[in-house]
Amino acid sequence: MRIFSGIQPTGRKHLGNYIGAIRQYVGGQERAAAAGDVAIYCIVDLHATTVQYDPAVLRERLYDTTAILLAAGLDPERCILFRQGDVPEHTELCWLLCSVTALGELSRMHQFRDKSVAQRELVSAGLLFYPVLQAADVLAYRAVEVPVGEDQREHLELMRDVATRFNARFGGGRDILVVPEHRIPAVGARIMDLQDPTRKMSTTGSSEEGTVYVLDEPGAIEKKMRRAVTDSDDPPAIRRGDDKPGVTNLIDILAACSARTPEEVVASLADARGYGDLKAAAAAAVVEELRPVRERFAELRPDERLLEQTLAAGAEQARALAGATLSEVREAMGVGPPR
Ligand code: TRP
Repeated sequence: MRIFSGIQPTGRKHLGNYIGAIRQYVGGQERAAAAGDVAIYCIVDLHATTVQYDPAVLRERLYDTTAILLAAGLDPERCILFRQGDVPEHTELCWLLCSVTALGELSRMHQFRDKSVAQRELVSAGLLFYPVLQAADVLAYRAVEVPVGEDQREHLELMRDVATRFNARFGGGRDILVVPEHRIPAVGARIMDLQDPTRKMSTTGSSEEGTVYVLDEPGAIEKKMRRAVTDSDDPPAIRRGDDKPGVTNLIDILAACSARTPEEVVASLADARGYGDLKAAAAAAVVEELRPVRERFAELRPDERLLEQTLAAGAEQARALAGATLSEVREAMGVGPPR
């Protein structure tokens, strides 16, 4: 069971990214290895060029993301961690897959529509082709499982369509590409903004006070958690519910950071005097969850040469796998010399 996921090297990683994606990656590394396969994680610098960006900042964020993933427990001995731009097979496959991608489908993608209205200077063609590159990322490795958030559902569907169409058009009865599954993490998939718990915690568009960053100091985390919006139920009711987004979010965060179910968390707070107890417990759990990551990050981040070496070793492993797929794809499409 091969796992592949990609992560953007942009923005500061927050608690939602950590619980929803980064921790799943670490779990995936163990599961794939136990099944005799490998988990492959790619930091997608090429995708980051599809919107306005500063090249120097991209480099910095790339190192930040690499160090955070390593600090969270990705082990380059047990998974493949690499930078997209180091493996030219991705861009080549992206081009080849364009021949089986419907323009209409691309132009209907929600992310394309949302991001293109947000661009002031230029809506790049890269933004339109973003999902084709993402399809190439996964299909180059014949990955089965793709752990991503709910917001990536459309991109996954497109990737499945592209793989199916490729096999039908060029496979000659064989499945050259593997049609991947969508895997949305069940727990902690939706960590909400602490100030506006009806919106997801996100890099863009959520409030600074409502967002806990992976690298926040304990004091900052405690302050943000203490100020989290709850509700005015009297007496205060610590339970999950659609009518209680703030309290539900705190319960979910506490559960995710203390390896318990939300029901266990609610039971443990049966004697609580009010929301203050819930907030304090959640703050303490988040601080302890993120402490080792922040400390390890501080050790790893300064050594950019070591980070580069780690990424280079990962890229070499990635190229060996992607190269094999590409040579079959080229052969099937009649591109380049016959094998
Ligand atoms: N588009 C994804 C995101 O914004 C990142 C990504 C790029 C990705 N390539 C991928 C995710 C391949 C899964 C598989 O989160």
